[in-house]
Amino acid sequence: MIKLRNIAKSYSFGQTPLPVLRGIDLDIQAGDLLAVMGASGSGKSTLMNILGLLDRPTSGQYLLEGKEIRHYSDDELSILRNQKIGFVFQSFHLLPRLTALANVGYPLIYRNLPRKDIEKRAQAMLEKVGLADRAKHRPNELSGGQQQRVAIARALVGKPSLLLADEPTGALDSRVGKEILDLFVTLNQTEGITIVIITHDPNIANRCKRCVVMEDGLLK
Ligand SMILES: Nc1ncnc2c1ncn2[C@@H]1O[C@H](COP(=O)(O)OP(=O)(O)OP(=O)(O)O)[C@@H](O)[C@H]1O
Ligand SMILES: [Mg+2]
Repeated sequence: MIKLRNIAKSYSFGQTPLPVLRGIDLDIQAGDLLAVMGASGSGKSTLMNILGLLDRPTSGQYLLEGKEIRHYSDDELSILRNQKIGFVFQSFHLLPRLTALANVGYPLIYRNLPRKDIEKRAQAMLEKVGLADRAKHRPNELSGGQQQRVAIARALVGKPSLLLADEPTGALDSRVGKEILDLFVTLNQTEGITIVIITHDPNIANRCKRCVVMEDGLLK
């Protein structure tokens, strides 16, 4: 599903380029549940931004479902991202004024679906993450674990083929973090969603099918 070959990414500070990724080779199969570990600053989020089409590599090859992403314009990449990729972040990133239901339905607004359909799909996703009875709550009326469930429902409502999670349990206590991981494992097993989880927690990595470790811009 994903093939990275010799992916490099540098940020330029004045004259000096700062290499952050220094030649990443990675294959991700459909249905994979992959953990990415590594020290702070090793390049994990940079790699996720590239996988998620939020950023482009400086060099190297990225094939997503057989398509070389370098050939796409920025607009084409955003369409591809909206259709194929769901994101979950440590700090949830929910819209505070919207209900859980409206937050979950939000990505579908860009698909010009009728409002009724959006609400139906959002409600079904909330059920899937165990929050059917919290649809009308706003984020500040939900616990951290519940907010993360809403964020996961939002990430999945567009039926992406890839779910990228950057330290999704980092802001949660270990019991709630385990519940969130249970949800990822269930979604991977029952729906076959391909999931990449960045984590510092070895317990989480142990429950994934595969784990890779970043070290100073390279995969060990
Ligand atoms: N936009 C940017 N401009 C310049 N340098 C950046 C930028 N984004 C990241 N970096 C640098 O790239 C390196 C890797 O950052 P990245 O966020 O990928 O690390 P990480 O592995 O996700 O770390 P953490 O575990 O702390 O989240 C860091 O040294 C960081 O300072
Ligand atoms: Mg990071």
